[in-house]
Amino acid sequence: MELQFNLKAYYKTSADSAPAKEAVAAFFDEANRTILTKGAPEGQGAKVSGWEFGADRIKFVLESGRYVRVHDAALRLKKQLAGILGKEYKIGIRGIEVEEFEILLPSEKELKVGKIPYVKCMENIPGGIRLLLELGEAEMKNRVPDRILTLLEDKIEAAQYGAKAEHWNLLWQSEPKEHSFKEDPTQAMLKEGWLKRGASRGQWIHGPQSTRIFRTFEKIVLEELLEPLGYREMIFPKLVPWEVWTKSGHAKGVYPEIYYVCPPATRDPEYWEEVIDYYKVTHEVPTSLIKEKIGDPIGGMCYAQCPPFWVYVAGETLPNEEVPIRVFDRSGTSHRYESGGIHGIERVDEFHRIEILWLGTKEQVVKAANELHERYMHIFNDILDIEWRKAKVTPWFMAQEGLLGLAEGNVVGTTDYEACLPYRGADGEWLEFQNVSINGDKYPKGFNVKLQSGEEIWSGCSGVGLERWAAVFLAQKGLEPKNWPEEFRKRVGKMPKGIRFL
Ligand code: SER
Ligand code: ZN
Repeated sequence: MELQFNLKAYYKTSADSAPAKEAVAAFFDEANRTILTKGAPEGQGAKVSGWEFGADRIKFVLESGRYVRVHDAALRLKKQLAGILGKEYKIGIRGIEVEEFEILLPSEKELKVGKIPYVKCMENIPGGIRLLLELGEAEMKNRVPDRILTLLEDKIEAAQYGAKAEHWNLLWQSEPKEHSFKEDPTQAMLKEGWLKRGASRGQWIHGPQSTRIFRTFEKIVLEELLEPLGYREMIFPKLVPWEVWTKSGHAKGVYPEIYYVCPPATRDPEYWEEVIDYYKVTHEVPTSLIKEKIGDPIGGMCYAQCPPFWVYVAGETLPNEEVPIRVFDRSGTSHRYESGGIHGIERVDEFHRIEILWLGTKEQVVKAANELHERYMHIFNDILDIEWRKAKVTPWFMAQEGLLGLAEGNVVGTTDYEACLPYRGADGEWLEFQNVSINGDKYPKGFNVKLQSGEEIWSGCSGVGLERWAAVFLAQKGLEPKNWPEEFRKRVGKMPKGIRFL
């Protein structure tokens, strides 16, 4: 099956169009050879395949493939037709009314039929998918059919991508190491009184001991990586409004994983008195009543950490000497609604991360990523002494945006750092504990950042997950400082005492 658009519609006319019959027929015939083929490869333009005249309309049928699509064709025709009808026949065109808008698109996979705006019918047919749209001239002008097509093509690609295995390519692997510690580090930490579960889902309260481990990791990243490479600390916001996620692209898919934020509808105490009184009498928080009294979600809590930075540079032109810009943020938590079940500190709804971000020309961005990779190598081999590997991966959202990371020579994409967890056994899954991404022009484009020279701006980011580092380090080395590598012991100092209970 080939991609096909079919449109049945009519131009609403201000008078009977019969007198113009011959001129209009001649125009359509000529258009099929001229304006409807402009910009399309030979034989692949749009085509008016039928027309009919009425008292207040000119009906027409349009067919097309990918190139000059039926809605563009209808708009192109309208413009020229208005000239002909107006000048010679004093007939005006009042607009386009759509009777039927059909898209047939090829797909090897069946798609789940869902609710999509302007789609009144969607069905899986042999070799593809059939859509019937319900829309008007305004939506055609706004390219709604193109967006629907892109959406469906994304869905098809995601369905196919899920089945493919080649989105993981090993880049480097350390020598296997002996690991004498074989426990789940979270359980071990709980036993030793290093931390406790928080009151919220997937949340921990870190006692003085695990906090010291986190702070030591931060110190290592600061001294061995951020300072030598000239990264400057910033503070990024942690409440992220839709405006940021629409520009960063997260608005395309982040919904199942974010914690939503809703403001009160008003801060008038009287408006909230009912809630307050209810609580005082029942000692229960009336959540349904609260739901009625809060506004729509304005966004969510920090998820990817770097998107809110971009508001700082949005709409700006950077002087040539200003790039590469290298910054980092460690000012707060990130939040993800993780899939259920009981997890240790490696899979949590609230976590701590140093987010490292850089932007500049393509060459500068690639070079900065390589410098980070070198420094990380030094940290994991010479200071933490862990068994780890790194792999180039392509998150499906990048594949979706055509940023296929695994193609030869393509530098855009994510490198995941992974480590074995001895307690999971020799064949256990390795844990991703951080990443380095080259994001191409995605963010500068989304936030409209320019460079004085006119050269394209690229960016990259790297997330150092402190919980993940701890999960990996402690799983391989255990909780006993005497079993830790000398370089780490030196930096951690004397471990603080925990809080004891009776
Ligand atoms: N922003 C990146 C992510 O969310 C790196 O931390 O994965
Ligand atoms: Zn990032």
